[in-house]
Amino acid sequence: MNSNDKWIKFAQDLQLLKENISLKALNTFGIEAKAKFLLPFASVIELQEILASDLFKNNEHFILGGGSNILFTKDVDALVLKNEVKGIEILNEDENFAVVKFGAGELWHDCVLWAIENKLGGIENMSLIPGTMGAAPMQNIGAYGVEIKSVIESVEAVEKSTASLREFSNLDCDFGYRESVFKHSLKGKFVITHVILKLTKKHDLKLAYGAIKNELDAKGITEPEIRDVSNAVIAIRESKLPNPKEIGNAGSFFKNPVVDNDLFKTIQANNKDMPFYEQANGIKIPAGWLIEQAGWKGYLNGNIGVHKKQALVLVNYGNGKGENIYNLSQQIIQDVEAKYGILLHREVNIL
Ligand code: FAD
Ligand code: EPU
Repeated sequence: MNSNDKWIKFAQDLQLLKENISLKALNTFGIEAKAKFLLPFASVIELQEILASDLFKNNEHFILGGGSNILFTKDVDALVLKNEVKGIEILNEDENFAVVKFGAGELWHDCVLWAIENKLGGIENMSLIPGTMGAAPMQNIGAYGVEIKSVIESVEAVEKSTASLREFSNLDCDFGYRESVFKHSLKGKFVITHVILKLTKKHDLKLAYGAIKNELDAKGITEPEIRDVSNAVIAIRESKLPNPKEIGNAGSFFKNPVVDNDLFKTIQANNKDMPFYEQANGIKIPAGWLIEQAGWKGYLNGNIGVHKKQALVLVNYGNGKGENIYNLSQQIIQDVEAKYGILLHREVNIL
């Protein structure tokens, strides 16, 4: 053990370092997979100690947040580092905005509730997304007309190879639909430790998503506050997305494809009711609609299947195997491609 491994020894003594441990409770699919080692880190310094250790250098590793966008298809023969960096701090504020620094291990939805409690807006449409703050910039989380890129001031991350802390501006993150630089040129190179958001005090509510408006109308709310928008989003999500505490899932398994105009017209010719959204780079077609039309909605094979209310969500009703869910996703990809000429891409990270 080198001198840098003092932290590892300390973690062992505190029983923070676990060996050959089940990750079943740490992934929302509820898949049984064992980690060779599991070690939490609660600060940048603890992370830097780990990066310098022999334990880190001698093993493969994986960064784990809330496990809500992961499918384990086998045991994880690696050191799993669980992000538990906490803390919420207002860095500066004026009459219009507050710039707030969040620890990457804070739960995303708790941060949304904290913002609402403090009358800060900008993230209420993304209420109830599971997982941690640190994973949110990875795929530029989004829901009901808002993506996190619209409020990100900067992201702080530790480079694994040098253990140095680096700050990324919003532009540096190169955000796209469910994309960021951390999934591309910087894939696997950084651990996000803090996310800095610029939240509003004078709110610009985003109500364009029809379902939000309907939900507010149904409650007779004509002048909504950010809390009303959050409650509306929570109600919509609870009505169609399975709660991972009851049915294992990782939200949308695939991304919504964006196709060119020619392919769109060809499909639309036979499917007048197909929903679609015009984008700068083409036309987005809901993958859930394609999968439902292809006949997969509610599909069941033993303990795994396709959710009854949302065909974009693959589910584990209990004791399902990750590799079987992966194989099902492969069958769906092939079938949708054969029927519509559209290649679906997975949103969920496969391990
Ligand atoms: P994990 O699953 O733990 O990790 C995801 C990936 O990020 C992994 O590759 C991991 O290595 C990496 N990673 C995690 N933390 C860090 C870090 N600090 N530094 C570097 N890499 C890191 N997503 C949406 O965008 N919109 C939705 O509306 C939405 N709804 C969902 C609904 C349900 C019911 C579920 C289960 C999931 C939903 N998701 C949604 C997907 C998921 O919640 C998000 O992708 C979330 O940001 C994942 O966070 P996590 O902490 O669980 O990440
Ligand atoms: N649809 C169907 N059948 C289905 C599911 C959906 O026809 O089984 C149709 C709906 O009728 C609707 C359209 O597809 O016309 C879109 O459906 P929905 O509003 O439920 O949204 P989505 O495109 O399926 C996306 C995100 C979600 C996000 C919601 C709300 C992706 C991949 N998914 O889902 O994000 O919460 O919009 O903004 O972009 C996630 O990323 O994990 C996730 C849950």
